[in-house]
Amino acid sequence: MKNADYLTGITTSGTPHLGNYVGAIRPAVESSKNKDLVSYYFLADYHSLIKNHDPKLRKQSALEIAAAWIALGLDYDNCVFYRQSDIPEIPELTWILTSLTAKGLMNRAHAYKASAAENIDKGYKDQDKGITMGLFSYPVLMAADILMFNARKVPVGKDQVQHLEMTRDIAARFNHIYKKLFILPEVVIDETSAVLSGLDGRKMSKSYNNYIPLFDTEKRLRKLIMKIKTNSLGPDEPKDPDTCTIFSTFKAFASESETKYFEKQYRNGIAWGTAKQTLFEYVNEILNEPRKNYQELIKTPSDIDEILKQGAVKAREFSVPFLDKIRKTIGIQTLG
Ligand code: TRP
Repeated sequence: MKNADYLTGITTSGTPHLGNYVGAIRPAVESSKNKDLVSYYFLADYHSLIKNHDPKLRKQSALEIAAAWIALGLDYDNCVFYRQSDIPEIPELTWILTSLTAKGLMNRAHAYKASAAENIDKGYKDQDKGITMGLFSYPVLMAADILMFNARKVPVGKDQVQHLEMTRDIAARFNHIYKKLFILPEVVIDETSAVLSGLDGRKMSKSYNNYIPLFDTEKRLRKLIMKIKTNSLGPDEPKDPDTCTIFSTFKAFASESETKYFEKQYRNGIAWGTAKQTLFEYVNEILNEPRKNYQELIKTPSDIDEILKQGAVKAREFSVPFLDKIRKTIGIQTLG
């Protein structure tokens, strides 16, 4: 197996939603089919440990996320699709990297700083109250995910850019101290991939609980779309598409000409109920087939395990010899 041209991880917390689809799953499914690229996609289940402490939820989330990617057409034969926890070389590399990562670098991580600032705001004497080492050293585990496969490019959302900078920093430090083994990975922010708004108009996110699940029943999908917040303009009044969640969601799914037509209807004063119904029908049509695939897949989790196991075998064709090389480089090797 070759090193990764593209690599990205999906934290297994929560149920896959429309925002995950247009932001991460859809572009990844596309590039998974590209025969000229080696793409690695994995379920970051060790990362999920710091976000929730419910074993059942974690397992269910891994199942749902894996099933969603497969149902939406991920070409798992052409790419490398695996679970982080099936690759024991990753935690081993994490410790090796931890040992040369500056604590000061981790002090500057946004996620850690935000939690510490919150503690100070609340007036706690200890700014580290409730903060685990998992949260603090999260960027090192992420660096190991990436460096384990010497990935060249890492597509992520804007919130992950700092983690990529840290990964480069850590890789450069290893290369400097020991030997130049690691490629410094580049971040790829896909400006065309959409960021969806949720039911309340803020970014669609599990943390705001404003999301529309990808594979709920058709009835639930309609019900949730009908709940999208709008203003109080009446049926015949012209409406502004640019500030409207229904419109931006439609745009993330539809072609340019269909979007133009919808825009015209807005200017002419489409009723909110009609706009929502149009959006529902459009999204439902796209999700219909994948929903059936998903419902089948989820019934036989052992088939998904099999796919992930095969992915791990492919991934380890790279990670096992590469970790061996890393161990030799740092002097952890046979003594003879
Ligand atoms: N931290 C990423 C997120 O929350 C998920 C992730 C874990 C990841 N390991 C990765 C992304 C490696 C890219 C590469 O979205």
